[in-house]
Amino acid sequence: VEFRQIDLSLDSEIERVYIVLKELRSTPSLSEAKAIIAAAALTGAYRMVEAFDNEKCVGVMAFRILHDFTHGRHLYIDDLVVTEKMRGKGIGEKFLEYAEAVAQKGGCSNLRLCTGLDNKQAQKFYERCGWQARAYAFKKKLSK
Ligand SMILES: CC(C)(COP(=O)(O)OP(=O)(O)OC[C@H]1O[C@@H](n2cnc3c(N)ncnc32)[C@H](O)[C@@H]1OP(=O)(O)O)[C@@H](O)C(=O)NCCC(=O)NCCS
Repeated sequence: VEFRQIDLSLDSEIERVYIVLKELRSTPSLSEAKAIIAAAALTGAYRMVEAFDNEKCVGVMAFRILHDFTHGRHLYIDDLVVTEKMRGKGIGEKFLEYAEAVAQKGGCSNLRLCTGLDNKQAQKFYERCGWQARAYAFKKKLSK
């Protein structure tokens, strides 16, 4: 399995990884996914990396380098998903190592991500990879 950065300006690249991304968030259609990625990419900080095996996308990670009072300069992982068939082979751990290397090179002091309270497998995975649960993320939905 190899890793490469996705060119977010190319529809063909997004179409390649969309099937895998959809395993994490089932809601967006392809056109919605393209709009979300285009809006995120406008900030310039948003990047996406894929894991590929025999030219097939088997995992995706989206992240950005952020800078704020609370966390300092840090790398935030928006999305991380490995296709179901390929889980448990160390690809997820390699993605986290990739993010760590980018953060190190980018002068960050830490990395951050959010995972669902009910996603016990992912919590166990992050802890095994040396991450610590440090906060509750609160969310409030707005009526349309
Ligand atoms: C969490 C995830 C990215 C880990 O990727 P991975 O390539 O399977 O990870 P690794 O092979 O490096 O490590 C496997 C670990 O992930 C955990 N894991 C989580 N879901 C798993 C699954 N469906 N199958 C196998 N392992 C899974 C296992 O507990 C395992 O931990 P262990 O080695 O301590 O037993 C991947 O399982 C996944 O895409 N899950 C669904 C999407 C998701 O929840 N993403 C995180 C959102 S914050």
